[in-house]
Amino acid sequence: MSVRGTAVVTGASSGIGAATAARLAATGWDVVIGARRLDRLDAVAEATGARALPLDVTDDASVAAFAEAVGNCTLLVNNAGGAIGLEPVAAADLQDWQAMYDTNVLGVARVTQALLPALVASGRGHVVTIGSIAGLEPYPGGGGYNAAKHAVRAVMEVLRMELVGQPVRVTEIDPGMVETDFSVVRFRGDEARAAAVYRGVEALTADDIAECVGWAAERPDHVNIDRIVVKPRDQATATLVHRRPVDDS
Ligand SMILES: NC(=O)c1ccc[n+]([C@@H]2O[C@H](COP(=O)([O-])OP(=O)(O)OC[C@H]3O[C@@H](n4cnc5c(N)ncnc54)[C@H](OP(=O)(O)O)[C@@H]3O)[C@@H](O)[C@H]2O)c1
Repeated sequence: MSVRGTAVVTGASSGIGAATAARLAATGWDVVIGARRLDRLDAVAEATGARALPLDVTDDASVAAFAEAVGNCTLLVNNAGGAIGLEPVAAADLQDWQAMYDTNVLGVARVTQALLPALVASGRGHVVTIGSIAGLEPYPGGGGYNAAKHAVRAVMEVLRMELVGQPVRVTEIDPGMVETDFSVVRFRGDEARAAAVYRGVEALTADDIAECVGWAAERPDHVNIDRIVVKPRDQATATLVHRRPVDDS
């Protein structure tokens, strides 16, 4: 076992989760990663030295099997999640809202419940959850995703209160625009629409967020970083974004 202990990263088959697995493995953690797309997860495992396990955070049996296979755990990074759609409340498909709630809120709660005994037993546990500025600041079209990320923020604040006196830290990281597959998923595979989100903007990278996770995790055990809100310099709020002209010639 490494000096730092075992870190578990959910949703590590792409984007922020994959970058976090790499960042933690490079700084001495034993890393276990989970997601549904096993081909992509295996590629991340091969590149980072992490151990890959199948995981669907919306499925009780999958999470139970995952937690059993993980065993010891010092750091849990609840990263699996994302948005579906950008329709106004009046027109939104509530099945999309249900899916976002299941993944971003109940998924975080389910994995946290499953690994909390191991985190406490480690004597220096830490739960880091990837929220979003969508959990701090609603925006038009964000109804379902805003609701889910506001909810997970509440759950993390409650968890921090309930764990006072236990050897477990609780941190939330709330990014603004990060260029990953996030928008491809949000727009159901429409790559052109997804690319337009980041057009002319120097967005954050997945590595930028991974660095926040690593920094929070690697503070001394008595230091709890409650929340990191991190946005591109080009982004002041969810909707106020500076775009440079792009030359298509
Ligand atoms: N990109 C941004 O601008 C941004 C901003 C703020 C917050 N965030 C948050 O950051 C987190 C990571 O997103 P990302 O930007 O890295 O997007 P991404 O590249 O689409 O990654 C999302 C990850 O979540 C996993 N996932 C989704 N549903 C899952 C499920 N049911 N069970 C297990 N894993 C699941 C996906 O893996 P599989 O599909 O293989 O299962 C994938 O690895 C999300 O919570 C997102 O809400 C992103």
